[in-house]
Amino acid sequence: DWEMGNFAKEAIEEIRRKVGKDEVILGLSGGVDSSVTAALIHRAVGDQLTCVFVDHGLLRLNEAEQVRETFEKNMGMKLVMVDASEKFLSDLKGVTDPEKKRKIIGRDFVECFQSEAKKLTGAKWLAQGTIYPDVIESAAANTKKAKVIKSHHNVGGLPPDMHLQLLEPIRGLFKDEVRELGLQLGLPREMVFRHPFPGPGLGVRILGEVKREYADLLKRADAIFIDELRAAGWYDKVSQAFAVFLPVRSVGVMGDGRTYDYVVALRSVETTDFMTAKWSQLPYDLLGKVSNRIINEVKGINRVCYDISGKPPATIEWE
Ligand code: XMP
Repeated sequence: DWEMGNFAKEAIEEIRRKVGKDEVILGLSGGVDSSVTAALIHRAVGDQLTCVFVDHGLLRLNEAEQVRETFEKNMGMKLVMVDASEKFLSDLKGVTDPEKKRKIIGRDFVECFQSEAKKLTGAKWLAQGTIYPDVIESAAANTKKAKVIKSHHNVGGLPPDMHLQLLEPIRGLFKDEVRELGLQLGLPREMVFRHPFPGPGLGVRILGEVKREYADLLKRADAIFIDELRAAGWYDKVSQAFAVFLPVRSVGVMGDGRTYDYVVALRSVETTDFMTAKWSQLPYDLLGKVSNRIINEVKGINRVCYDISGKPPATIEWE
């Protein structure tokens, strides 16, 4: 599209003009906004950009590897990957309250990112994937005190003693424009049209205490659900779909043995603004196939439920 082509060209020139020969840091989450920002800045200033990716151990199956593949191998970017899963899991130990979990994950995230950023002593700029709806939302949050249902967290945050300047090259764009730009910059279609994923990741999809064992089961169940949605052509029709881990056990029968294993809930919603949402009317045979595969392939799960709650009164994530 001509207009976005023009946008990219002008944005690249502006980044070069602003940044000059300085170094830039960017917190990469794997989400569309930070990915497109990274690709754009890399196109403009190449190796002057370093991306930092914090792996909290609560990502989707193979997500860290995919980020490495796309950005480091295919696009040739400088990428620092921080495996912080031990820290996150130990700080989350024994914590069951959803808001406390969110706060801990958010705080650990900022700490990890900042301590990595401080090692890049030459950096003068902090790039962020802020887009136009974020600008509006935070302006609204500043004027009227919004009632907090869930405290959200996003990548980045400025290390206070680093004196970095902010670089936000896509802050004028809407989501669909960001996606178009991403395609133009050569990001894989699958990454550009991926469903949104919350900052706290699987931390808010494992109810109550987060354990590595639970995360491992959930990642595999979730990957099967997403696989089957894609295969059936449903992935792009729904707005967001994922699995949720319920830390309760129920009795089942497998072969000629009794099982006593955990439960997984499937959630799929359709929405335009994520403020309200309808549960997706997925075909029964698709749900049946997903359920069979999860129970057969993920040892430790013997029951699968489908969430048929709208938002409101339920929220999209379970915590
Ligand atoms: P809820 O659960 O509030 O979610 O209905 C609405 C949308 O927001 C996403 N979500 C988050 N996104 N950081 C994010 O960047 C967060 O902490 C967070 N919590 C929820 C959720 O996945 C859904 O798309």
